[in-house]
Amino acid sequence: MAMEKNVRIAVLVSGGGTNLQALIDAEKRGELGRGSICLVLASKPGVYALERAAAAGIESTVLTRKEYADAKAYTAALVDTLVAARIDLVVLAGFMIIIGEQMYKQFPNRILNVHPALIPSFCGPGFYGLHVHEAALAKGVKVSGATVHFVTPECDAGPIVLQKAVEVKEDDTPETLQKRIMEQAEWKILPKAVRLFCDGRLTVENDKVYVKGE
Ligand code: GAR
Repeated sequence: MAMEKNVRIAVLVSGGGTNLQALIDAEKRGELGRGSICLVLASKPGVYALERAAAAGIESTVLTRKEYADAKAYTAALVDTLVAARIDLVVLAGFMIIIGEQMYKQFPNRILNVHPALIPSFCGPGFYGLHVHEAALAKGVKVSGATVHFVTPECDAGPIVLQKAVEVKEDDTPETLQKRIMEQAEWKILPKAVRLFCDGRLTVENDKVYVKGE
C-alpha cells in the first residue's frame, strides 16, 4: 500500500527556483517520504520558479510585497494563505523577503530555510544570493557550502539542521561558486532536511537540532 502523504509543504520562492526543482524531483523519486508539495508561493510575478510549479502541476500563488502597506500586513497575508492551504511545513527556497513575527508564532520550528554558506559565516541581513559568494571570495575562504536551518526571528540564526561543505577554487567567480554550492550542497541537503522533517525525525532542544536515528 502506498504511504499516505500527509505532510503538506509550501515552498516560498523569489527567483529561478532551482531549489524548488530539487524538491519537486525528490518528491517524484519518492524521496520526500510523507511530504507533498501542495503550494508554491512567489514574492513577485513572472519568476521562473512559477513555471517550474506549473510544469509539475503544483498550485501556485503570488504575494507581492509592494502591494501591502508594511511588513506586518505582508506577513499577515502570508500566514492567511498558508493556513488556508493547511500547510504543515514552510520551506524558504530563495525567498528574499524577511518574514515577520506572526509567521514564527504560527509555524514554530516548521519553517526551513536554505542558505548558501556555512552559517555562522556569511549570513545575516544583506547576505543573500550572489552577495554571499562575493563575500566568501573576498575573504579568501578555502571552503564554503550550504546550510539548512529552522527559521527564527533573528535572520539566519535559527537551529541548524544540515550543512555541507564545498571546496572554493582559486579561479572561482561568485557565479561559479554559487553554481558549485547549489549542485554539490543545496540541492542535496534541502530535500534531505525536508524528508527528515516529514519523517518526524527532527527535534529542537536548546536551539540545537537532533536527528533521530543518527
Ligand atoms: C539559493 O542559492 C539560496 O540558497 C539563496 O538564493 C538562491 C536561490 O536560488 N538564498 C539566500 O541567499 C537566502 N539568504 P533558486 O531560486 O535557484 O533556488
